Amino acid sequence: MHILKLGALTLAASFAMSAAAQGLPKLADKPTYKVGFAQTENNNPWRIAETKSMKDAATACHWNLVYTDAASSASKQVDDVQSMIAQKVDVIVLAPREEKPLIPAVMKAKRAGIPVILIDRNVDQSVAAAGRDYVTFIGSDFVDQGRRAGEWLVKTTGGKGTIIELEGTTGSSPANDRKKGFDDVIKRQTGMKIVASQSGDFSRDKGRQVMQTLLQAHPDATAVYAHNDEMAIGAIAALEAAGKKPGKDVTVVSIDGTRDALNAIAAGKMGATVQSSPFFGPVTCETIKSYAKGEKIPAWVKVSDKFYDKSNAQASMADGY
Ligand code: AHR
Repeated sequence: MHILKLGALTLAASFAMSAAAQGLPKLADKPTYKVGFAQTENNNPWRIAETKSMKDAATACHWNLVYTDAASSASKQVDDVQSMIAQKVDVIVLAPREEKPLIPAVMKAKRAGIPVILIDRNVDQSVAAAGRDYVTFIGSDFVDQGRRAGEWLVKTTGGKGTIIELEGTTGSSPANDRKKGFDDVIKRQTGMKIVASQSGDFSRDKGRQVMQTLLQAHPDATAVYAHNDEMAIGAIAALEAAGKKPGKDVTVVSIDGTRDALNAIAAGKMGATVQSSPFFGPVTCETIKSYAKGEKIPAWVKVSDKFYDKSNAQASMADGY
């Protein structure tokens, strides 16, 4: 495994072979690029922070940005990428909503000679691979995020409890991987059980609604694991509506590190959140420059994430978004 530093981020991954060796499209070394950024949606603080980071990078890095919002539709996102190909952008930056449906669009861009960089979410690695079909994946280790949330819950509860899990968008890499990382930890605990696991689509209101329904079937649940902070905040509202005290009757843990989550931890309603950084602009800019210079790019540009609980949430409020 090779480790290198790119900007403030630690990159840890096997090096991809050079672009030419793998048949990836090349990128000319120029002062400015026409960059397509295909976002999945803008319906929560995490997405809004990611979009802002990319728009700020467009200004700082002198990109001519072609920006699209797929409004929570994988098929619209496929169309958005096709439109970018038709507009002959120099490079496409894609946050694929789901793991499988975006693969044909990634392949089409490669055939059109346009390099693709995936940020935030990945595609199904058994079908398309970084360094072969697209340049790289820039993002967090979602399995590890789930593992860290699980290990915190085990430690905090002494390895006892019944858990309701609120999953993210079905078919997305963070939902698949955060579930795997967490469930693997819980399976090893004889005193813990996941009694229900259902998608709340990474949305606060859907998280609240799903929690309300699952609480009727499992009124004695002692913990909630939400795949993102928005669903955790929704779950807290459902718990309170049911007359429960989140943080006392029910332990809540999730992922993201939003300002609302940090406030909920400081108020004692949420136990902990694993950070998932949405600030992809600077590292994407650096990666594009490096790729254009012909430097080897790791298959996975790994983003390292912090962890927040009652010991540091208040003091870390400036990290929130
Ligand atoms: O892909 C990252 C996830 O997507 C974030 O955890 C979530 O809040 C967002 O919608």
